[in-house]
Amino acid sequence: MAFNVTVANTEFRFPCEPNESVLDAAQRARLEIPFSCRKGVCGTCKGRVVSGDVRAFAGDALSDAERAQGLALFCNARPRSDLVIEPRSIAKADPFARKTTTARVFRLTRLADDVMLLHLRFPAGIRVRFRAGQHLNLILDNGERRDFSMANPPSESDGAQLHIRHVPGGPFTSHVFEKLKRGDHLRVEIPFGDFVLRDSAKPILFVAGSTGFAPIQSIIEDSFAKGIARDMTLYWGARRRAGIYSELPQKWAAQNPRFRFVPVLSDAAEPGFRHNLVHRAVLEDHPSLAAFQAYVCGVPVMTQAARSDFVGAGLPDSEFFADAFVTRADLAAAGP
Ligand code: FES
Repeated sequence: MAFNVTVANTEFRFPCEPNESVLDAAQRARLEIPFSCRKGVCGTCKGRVVSGDVRAFAGDALSDAERAQGLALFCNARPRSDLVIEPRSIAKADPFARKTTTARVFRLTRLADDVMLLHLRFPAGIRVRFRAGQHLNLILDNGERRDFSMANPPSESDGAQLHIRHVPGGPFTSHVFEKLKRGDHLRVEIPFGDFVLRDSAKPILFVAGSTGFAPIQSIIEDSFAKGIARDMTLYWGARRRAGIYSELPQKWAAQNPRFRFVPVLSDAAEPGFRHNLVHRAVLEDHPSLAAFQAYVCGVPVMTQAARSDFVGAGLPDSEFFADAFVTRADLAAAGP
């Protein structure tokens, strides 16, 4: 028998089977709750269970303290009773927004030894609507999917530019680096995600780890195109210099007095680069984050550390937005 899930302070309610995750049930009801990995790894779907009881598979990214505070990962939480929940955000899905289509490989460009720019073009006449910061699914022949963020702004709607980091031993990324060629076709479903700029006058901190730069590039270029007048600082971190693989941030800084760029290396000090973990470099500059909005994209361990440290430095939790990219290895470690 399905339980009833009510979303606090909204008109939304939906049924959820005992063996179904709250996230899956919300999506069945055409409601969008933020998510990324769907495996309890990234923390993107975290929200509050205001009343009722849920069970969760062990080993997810939630700490005991968070669980005791009534927080849950909705991709992992299954109802044991009727629930009232408070997700970070929820909205009706736009039935016309998402499309599945076949895209053609237009160009492959090495951005670094282990990063490829995969430029896809959609079929002639197909314009795809997405918001800056969102991602798409590549649908592989075996039905598996891989998430990648668009680095291009939505105004360039005839294609998608993806920054793909080679994961050693990863079959899909190895295929991209070794076999994929211009003219090949890939199935894509687009768009997903809510890592998008929120209206506010607050200064923005963008924090990118490695290819987490891609959705942030899209957001920044879209903001400039729209004339959004806010102070913005981009902290882009990598282990080594080659990981800061684009010169666009320097160009943006030269052209926009309200944009600042701080490149950060974690492995070794180099002139012109900060030497630290990327989210720690933010805190070196801003001991109090109470006045900011933060957008963070990188591996789960980085986004989770950033959330915890930024909120500890006074950033309101509601002003922290993250997109965590999760590898197959992360998912395998999370179990079935
Ligand atoms: Fe739930 Fe990643 S989507 S933890």
